[in-house]
Amino acid sequence: MHILGISGSLRQASLNTAALRACATLLPEGVSFSLADLSDIPVYNEDLRVHGLPASVQLLREQISAADAIVIATPEYNYSFPGVLKNAIDWASRPPDQPFDGKPIAIIGATPGGLGTSRAQYQLRQVFIYLNGHVLNRPEVMISAAPSKFDTDGKLIDEPTAENLRKLLTVLCDTARQQKV
Ligand SMILES: Cc1cc2nc3c(=O)[nH]c(=O)nc-3n(C[C@H](O)[C@H](O)[C@H](O)COP(=O)(O)O)c2cc1C
Repeated sequence: MHILGISGSLRQASLNTAALRACATLLPEGVSFSLADLSDIPVYNEDLRVHGLPASVQLLREQISAADAIVIATPEYNYSFPGVLKNAIDWASRPPDQPFDGKPIAIIGATPGGLGTSRAQYQLRQVFIYLNGHVLNRPEVMISAAPSKFDTDGKLIDEPTAENLRKLLTVLCDTARQQKV
């Protein structure tokens, strides 16, 4: 079983990417994890698409298709999720073989603020209604006051958050396994 992590932040010291790196250490037995890289994905332009998908987009689509499940860590920008993430989802979603169709997805998010990216997460869920991604309802992982929960190297140091992530990853893998049967 393989999980793909997608961070909505390109920032080197991103709290959301740090949360995904933490996920890689909290997996159920026998599960592997890799991180997608959105940094080379161009701004969506239908004129580009008609000439063939850019290599970075092709790679992302293949990674999504090959994964048994996805974890998306979204920052909250102005009460929503960032354009970087929407742009990548828009590219990946173009037909044929839309790779989110039926895919188990967990959404998490980290912010210095007090509401744990909840507003961004609920908006992101809405996108996957159309794309038929199977977003888990619970547990919700909304990491508020996040700078206090990671050390200066980006390592997760908050045990309740680690436990919540562990639970989420277990439910996500169980869901993906049931879907395979
Ligand atoms: C354009 C912009 C808008 C933001 N809006 C919000 C917001 O609505 N809610 C919030 O909790 N944090 C907001 N923030 C703060 C981000 O949560 C913070 O920069 C966070 O560290 C970004 O995630 P990252 O660490 O993964 O890059 C905003 C940041 C930026 C740059």
